[in-house]
Formats: sequence, structure tokens, C-alpha cells
Amino acid sequence: MRNPAAVPTLSVVDIRVIDPHDEVLLRRHWEIGKAAEAVSRPYDFYGSWESTCLSLTQQRDDIERVLLGAFVDEVMWGAALVEHPLHDNLHSAKATYYVHPARQRQHVGRALAVASYGVARRRSRRLMVTEAFAPVDDISPGLLFAEAMGFSQALVDGMKVVELPATEHLWDALAERAAARHPDYRIVTWQDQVPEQYVAGYCTLNEMFVDEAPMGELDVEPERWDAERVHHGETRNQKTGRHIVAAGAVSQDGTLVGVTEIVVSSYAPSHGFQSGTLVAPGHRGHALGLAMKVANHRRLRARFPRCLLLMTGNADVNAAMNAVNEALGYREVERCIEMQRPI
Ligand SMILES: CC(C)(COP(=O)(O)OP(=O)(O)OC[C@H]1O[C@@H](n2cnc3c(N)ncnc32)[C@H](O)[C@@H]1OP(=O)(O)O)[C@@H](O)C(=O)NCCC(=O)NCCS
Repeated sequence: MRNPAAVPTLSVVDIRVIDPHDEVLLRRHWEIGKAAEAVSRPYDFYGSWESTCLSLTQQRDDIERVLLGAFVDEVMWGAALVEHPLHDNLHSAKATYYVHPARQRQHVGRALAVASYGVARRRSRRLMVTEAFAPVDDISPGLLFAEAMGFSQALVDGMKVVELPATEHLWDALAERAAARHPDYRIVTWQDQVPEQYVAGYCTLNEMFVDEAPMGELDVEPERWDAERVHHGETRNQKTGRHIVAAGAVSQDGTLVGVTEIVVSSYAPSHGFQSGTLVAPGHRGHALGLAMKVANHRRLRARFPRCLLLMTGNADVNAAMNAVNEALGYREVERCIEMQRPI
């Protein structure tokens, strides 16, 4: 673990709100996160400059975002992003904190964190959530920092990667094995836009997520979804070069009862992120999770042949999802510790 020693002299840190339309400052903000992740995480999944710039300059109706820069002697060395959900979870905010490796252990991170609480409190939030990454069996500066700042651990996710070309030989047998167990369901795939006939089912599944996926001690409430939110998200993705490759499970009456999604950016097409996967209760035990994921891997390979690596995260306690991921060849490379503190 990289663990720079604390330096005896601490500088005066000036925290400023960064206007995302100021490209010079936004670029510096992005670079600080990029440099901090490069020395603290085993794989580079940090967002590209192009997609970050496109995303942060867009007004969103689902999240209010505040960018903070930490300046020492007029140079920005620390960068935070505070996100306030607007449709649900109005009690909480989520922050990411980065300090450039050249200025760590000088209380820049501490100043950013304290400022972020004020930002969120002014929007009537009472809880701050953050994520710290750490090696599978070790601590990390991020984890020690979050603990020092009073965050407590709420949920531990194993972060996993799978190399697609090296594992595609597994897919035929897995799909066959799964198909034998779900004769009453169809597996469907789509890209970027949820087919109109599945939008209602997709919203229901998203609203179930918090209750159905392990959340540990995290103080979160179910999200609220409707067709408008789905369509706004699709428009946003289109503007920021994000593609969603998705597979769903459809029951005999035509209802969407399961979904899995992969996100790939056109600005960083060599890797993607496997985000949520859910099968509704009542439809579990038919290998639908495995069937959807295999179908989605295949579709991704066909549509995005340059995408070679996927990353995902699952709660350690999520036995069903972990079994599916293991069958697909995912291997654990780090941990994500989801943390929270009252503010
Ligand atoms: C985590 C991070 C933001 C900390 O920034 P920082 O400016 O170095 O942190 P600070 O100097 O303000 O540290 C505040 C306290 O956190 C703890 N801490 C921070 N880094 C630590 C480390 N490497 N080892 C041990 N304790 C550490 C200490 O208790 C420290 O107080 P002290 O120096 O008086 O002992 C920085 O290491 C970073 O950018 N890491 C990569 C991204 C990341 O992990 N983000 C945070 C996730 S919550």
C-alpha cells in the first residue's frame, strides 16, 4: 500500500466552488483525480476527459452537482464532486475526494471533506456517502482518510474484472446450461434505448433495486423512476458518448422481470462497466441472471469489438451474483468500501 508520511508543515487550504464551464479549472480538477487514481487503483477506469467535460457541463434534472477545488498558494491540488440526488434520497449527498499525489498528507483532503459537508447541509442533506477503494486484503490511504473523517463502513463490494476475449469460449456452454432452466422466459437485448414495451417493467425493477440488492448498513431509500426519467437519461447518455448495452428477461405474459446493463463510453472504448443486474423476486432460480449476462457479453463483443475488459462490483454477501460472475470468469482485483457519516 502506498502510504505517504504526514508532513510536519501544513499549508493554508482555500476551498472554492469550480464553475464547470471554466475549462482550465475543470481540466485541472479532472487531472487531480486521474493522478490520484493512477497511484491508488490497479485498473484505470477513471472517466475520459471528453466524457467528463461533456457530462459536467450539462445541467441535470436528477442530480445537483457541486465541484470543489482545494487551492494552496493559488494552485489547485485537491478536487471534490458533491452530488445531491433530486428525485429521491433527499436526505443524502455523495462525495468523491481526490488529492494530487504530490500534496497528500497535508490536510488538503480534510479541508475538502469539511467544505463538502457545508455544501450538502445547505441543501438540507443530513448524510454524506462516499466510496473508498482498497486492495482485496489491505487498507489504503482512501480508507484511512475516510475513517479519520468519521465515515463508517456500510457495505463492502468486491471489485472484479473479466477479460472478454479470454473468456468468450465459456459462453456457449453457460448459455446452454442456463437455457435449460428458463424454458418459460425469453432473453432480449437492446442498446441505448429501453424498448417502449419494457419501460414500465424497467422502472419497476430500478425501484426494487435498493430493497432487493444487499445494501448493508447504507442509509438509502428506493429510487423513484418513471418513463420521463428513463428518457432523460437516454438523452444525456447520447450527449455524453455513453452507450448502454442491456439484456432483459421477459416472462410469458410479456413483462420484463430482469435486467442487466453494461456502460461503455465512445471516448474510452477499450473497457466497460457492468452496472446493475436484477431479477425480480418470484422469477429467481431459473438461471436468468446468468442467461442475461451471457447474452449481454455476446452483444457487447458483437457491437463493441474494441471493448476487451469489464469491471463490476458486488457486495461480498451477494452469493447469487458472485456465483454468476465467477462462472463468467470475473476475478476480484480490489474492494470498494461504501461509507457514510452524518453531517
Ligand atoms: C484519500 C485522499 C483524498 C486523502 O487526501 P489527503 O489530503 O492526503 O488527506 P489529509 O492529509 O487531509 O488526511 C486527513 C487524515 O486522514 C488520514 N490519512 C490520510 N491519508 C492517509 C494515509 N496515507 N495513511 C494513513 N492515514 C491517512 C490521517 O488520519 C489524516 O490525518 P493526519 O495526517 O493528521 O494523521 C488522497 O489520499 C487521495 O486522493 N486518494 C485517492 C482517492 C481516494 O481514495 N479518495 C478518497 C476516498 S474516501
